Amino acid sequence: MQIIKTIKDINSQSIALKKEGKKIGFVPTMGALHAGHISLIRESNRQNDLTVCSIFVNPTQFNDPRDFEKYPVTLESDMQKLIAAKCDILFLPSVHEMYPQGMKNNSPIDFGYMAGTLEGEFRPGHFDGMAQIVEKLLLAVAPHHLYMGQKDYQQAMICKELIKKQKLKIKLVTCPIKREKDGLAMSSRNVRLDRASRRKAVEIVKTLRSIKRAMGRGAKDGGRLEIKDIERKAVERLAAFPEFQVEYVAIRDARTLKPIKKISATTHAVALIAARIGGVRLIDNMLL
Ligand code: PAF
Repeated sequence: MQIIKTIKDINSQSIALKKEGKKIGFVPTMGALHAGHISLIRESNRQNDLTVCSIFVNPTQFNDPRDFEKYPVTLESDMQKLIAAKCDILFLPSVHEMYPQGMKNNSPIDFGYMAGTLEGEFRPGHFDGMAQIVEKLLLAVAPHHLYMGQKDYQQAMICKELIKKQKLKIKLVTCPIKREKDGLAMSSRNVRLDRASRRKAVEIVKTLRSIKRAMGRGAKDGGRLEIKDIERKAVERLAAFPEFQVEYVAIRDARTLKPIKKISATTHAVALIAARIGGVRLIDNMLL
């Protein structure tokens, strides 16, 4: 695996590879790699001639500085995992390389409602910083395909919009959520859970499954069951565990993230949850 640390080098390498007719897939990460990331690398390998993975813990997307300080850094083991997964190039830039003029975002892109709701409400500024770095990375790596996980549902939607707004010739491929044996969505933050919190964390996916069942029942009873009742019951279910601080449980239109009024058999919906447990913030979602 080749390691490249500068924008100039990754960009000229990408241009040269494209001239040879090679298809490039790109997996941006903040490191602390787990099987979810590796599934993105494997999907990229399957669809492209080469895979580039970036590891960059982006300071501008952490609205909470303590979260940034605590973000796990496991570079040695990340590199072993990337080599084992047959990643071709690791792009490993420094903060100065990505933000030579400082970190102020002078022209944030307006993603409207999509970025202001849910995560946008609880993590103000997060999506500005995320979109800022993803755009820089996409311009540097200039891939054909970008791979992201469905676990960060809203993030993937915003990146799709970013590609559209900035007229980048890149196709976003969103890959399914990877789960632990008990169903917990894989996340770099899971390593920060103590034993008791780790055992309880599975209640998040169980709540999502209970929403899916309720939506199924709702579709059958002609839409009498109200979405807000399903949401309320799901919040109550999770909040009944005193270990959780629930930030949101929401059932939204899967294409716009706007609230849905009525359940029908053709409703294209997604349920999303954010909750804190043992000082760790976890998110998860499920298409309904
Ligand atoms: O999902 C992540 O790990 C980050 O938000 C990303 C896309 C690498 C941008 O820093």
